[in-house]
Amino acid sequence: MFQLKNVVPWGRSFQDYIEMFNLTPEDLELSILDCAGGPASFNAIMKQREKTVISCDPIYQFTPQQIEKRIDETYPIIIDGLYKNIDQFVWEKTPTPEALGEDRLSAMKEFLADFATGKQEGRYREIGFPELPFSDQHFDLAVSSHLLFTYSEQFSWEFHLQSILELSRVAKEVRIFPLVENFTSIKSRHLDSILEALTTGGYETEIQKTVYEFQRGGNELLKVIG
Ligand SMILES: C[S@@+](CC[C@H](N)C(=O)[O-])C[C@H]1O[C@@H](n2cnc3c(N)ncnc32)[C@H](O)[C@@H]1O
Repeated sequence: MFQLKNVVPWGRSFQDYIEMFNLTPEDLELSILDCAGGPASFNAIMKQREKTVISCDPIYQFTPQQIEKRIDETYPIIIDGLYKNIDQFVWEKTPTPEALGEDRLSAMKEFLADFATGKQEGRYREIGFPELPFSDQHFDLAVSSHLLFTYSEQFSWEFHLQSILELSRVAKEVRIFPLVENFTSIKSRHLDSILEALTTGGYETEIQKTVYEFQRGGNELLKVIG
């Protein structure tokens, strides 16, 4: 069962999404699925710009108050984790863990302010990998960050493959970021064999550089076209 106490809600900003997924102005006009969207502000800001994103994440079954409480509980733990692994990160845009924390908190506040309305409008859906209840090719583009490959230790190779195949079924193009494991600069243990399985299955894959790099070496996305 999905439990809030096991989730570390940490959401990035609209600008982070642009840089993590190499999103062009043309991409922003597409119908987009953000799977494992968590408390990121991408959906909220896209709505302000009158564009459509559907975000899915099991965390959306909880209330804004419950999610906010969990953010408050985990915040100092993440800051501590960043200090303990300080060399694994690039401190250019945000010079300290606290500055980064402020950046993330401001994005998460934008999410929290939008969440209740967005849920009513069907923009936040409490569903998740490995099964996505959408019809084939429902979306033009599916993006997913900081779950697949990031949590390679926690999620099996089979879970990764099934989830990526499902994203490729519901969207014409998939982009996943980053390809390194959590709190490290180490490439995901599943990446090479997942690429092999996708190629064997007839999918086109490409690894693209991104401007975004916070985890050292975490400056690549995986693009999959079915
Ligand atoms: C670290 S957050 C990433 C949020 C956002 N994508 C970003 O990059 O800022 C990871 C999210 O994955 C969600 N998650 C956990 N299991 C999931 C699943 N099976 N399917 C979809 N999302 C899941 C968690 O609830 C959490 O919100």
